[in-house]
Amino acid sequence: MTSVLLIGATGNIGSHLADALVRHKGQFSTIGALTSQSSLDDAEKKKTYDALAEKGFNIEVAQIDNKESLIEVFKKYNNVVSAVGAPGIPGQTVFIDAAVEAGVSRFYPSEFGSDTNQLQNEPVYAGKVKIQQYLKEAAQKNPQFSYTLFVNGAFMEWFFTLPPSVYDIDTKNHTANVIGDLNAKISTTSFHE
Ligand SMILES: NC(=O)c1ccc[n+]([C@@H]2O[C@H](COP(=O)([O-])OP(=O)(O)OC[C@H]3O[C@@H](n4cnc5c(N)ncnc54)[C@H](OP(=O)(O)O)[C@@H]3O)[C@@H](O)[C@H]2O)c1
Repeated sequence: MTSVLLIGATGNIGSHLADALVRHKGQFSTIGALTSQSSLDDAEKKKTYDALAEKGFNIEVAQIDNKESLIEVFKKYNNVVSAVGAPGIPGQTVFIDAAVEAGVSRFYPSEFGSDTNQLQNEPVYAGKVKIQQYLKEAAQKNPQFSYTLFVNGAFMEWFFTLPPSVYDIDTKNHTANVIGDLNAKISTTSFHE
């Protein structure tokens, strides 16, 4: 049966992934959430992980920049989902190396946004594109290892909570600065999906 380990369960997106895993936990042999000791030293985060443990998660602690430490945990899971925030994106190479060595069959990198396959030259996605390349090479060298990119577009609940300085959408004053074609279609999603 499928086991899944989530990294970043306290995050904007990871918290929703954790909720979804709890809702569907009957489909998995094990659901785990991996974090570091320094995150558990944060009282708020500790509270979140304690609540996740009560809902059925195995809380795993590792040094998340240390391959050997990660391998010990990854060995127990066949799927690893990374939902780390932007500063953690480059460090996912260590997750990938550890996943390959631990025998993880599928890795889901921290994507959860635009179709970065179509945006390979956008500087803002350079970190994610590098990780895709790293994954591609790892999968080519290790046939038992595969990966999936979640491309869901913008989470609209998150989008509208951002201050106007970010995307020029002012929900208080009901104004937005639209660049380009007002009728252009875009793909979006919502957290519960
Ligand atoms: N499509 C959209 O609208 C949308 C919106 C927001 C984000 N995203 C994407 O979703 C992914 C996750 O973003 P997020 O905003 O949910 O992340 P976040 O809230 O900033 O962080 C997620 C969690 O990652 C863990 N983490 C582990 N190592 C980290 C590191 N070195 N740096 C930062 N966090 C680290 C932390 O969990 P612990 O401390 O508990 O271990 C942290 O709570 C990103 O790829 C982002 O681009 C998409």
